Amino acid sequence: MKREFIDLRSDTVTRPTEKMRHAMAVAVVGDDLYRDDPTVVELEELFAQRVGKEAALYLPSGVMANQVAIRTHCAPGTYIIAGERQHILTYEYGGVARNAGVSFLPLRDEDGRFGGDLVSEKLTASGFYDQRVSLVAIENTHMESGGKYWREAELKALREAAGKTPIHLDGARLFNAHVASGLSSAEICSHVDTVMSCVSKGLSAPVGSLLAGTKDFIERARQERAALGGQMRQAGIIAAAGIVALNEMVDRLTLDHQRAARLASAIRNRVVVFDSRLDDLETNIVIFTVSNAVAFVEDIAGRGIKANALDHRTIRFVTHSDLEDSDIDDAIEIINSIPQGNW
Ligand SMILES: Cc1ncc(COP(=O)(O)O)c(C=O)c1O
Repeated sequence: MKREFIDLRSDTVTRPTEKMRHAMAVAVVGDDLYRDDPTVVELEELFAQRVGKEAALYLPSGVMANQVAIRTHCAPGTYIIAGERQHILTYEYGGVARNAGVSFLPLRDEDGRFGGDLVSEKLTASGFYDQRVSLVAIENTHMESGGKYWREAELKALREAAGKTPIHLDGARLFNAHVASGLSSAEICSHVDTVMSCVSKGLSAPVGSLLAGTKDFIERARQERAALGGQMRQAGIIAAAGIVALNEMVDRLTLDHQRAARLASAIRNRVVVFDSRLDDLETNIVIFTVSNAVAFVEDIAGRGIKANALDHRTIRFVTHSDLEDSDIDDAIEIINSIPQGNW
């Protein structure tokens, strides 16, 4: 049966699977303030093990996980070195200033990444004005570059350049980076001190993100989570879906990547003459430029595709587990029906 809409707005639109709904219904729960919720504990231990860290903390959202990480790492008045197009700079509503009293030394990124040389340069230059750098933050995969992932050599160079300065990874889509790069999540995270990832995106759980690091870091992060109002009680009800997400939904992300690549080539053939982000698509995010993004989104909505405009000229399509191959076929048919050259 054809759907009313093919929803390509985000991988956050995914709904819990039947297995998740069952796991949620039968989850054993307790008050997590007292560490009485075995399902939350199980999810935290599972995530910590997957990313090769000592401990993890379950939080309501990716933004809160990033903010808690930053509050835990950074003293007020210090700086974070990060790529200028990362979620923590552009989409967290100035959260770092409001929640942690810190600001950024932004770096120009290429496909979402930056070299160790730029980090070393910033770190030494910061000495001239006594700017204290408390953190280096990266995003992997990187949303605005069209889901590109960090190479292992780049992660190694970053670690070397950062030295004793801690590195936090916004890995909202860490598992996409894992399946695309062939590196295990633990291998990716071995180059960073802390990592957050979301079970609520491509992995289809309804709610939640995890933050991992050393035991000591996570104990301090627990207090910061409470300070932001993120302490939950019988959260095992939602954590149960997160366990299914980590155990069952990671490997299938490859499918999302293949489907996104099909969409990218249809768009390149029909709508966009050249946009390097459509070449060599690596994961599940297709980003391209048109002359009028709002008009484009309206046009394709009328034809049956929901998508997001990121700004006046930029369109984003995201593939995810609520789509079937037939939806991609239908989306390509719709793309092919768009008058050529209009955009
Ligand atoms: C790269 C990145 N980091 C963090 C987040 C925040 O996650 P949440 O929506 O769960 O707060 C997102 C959300 O889309 C994201 O794309």
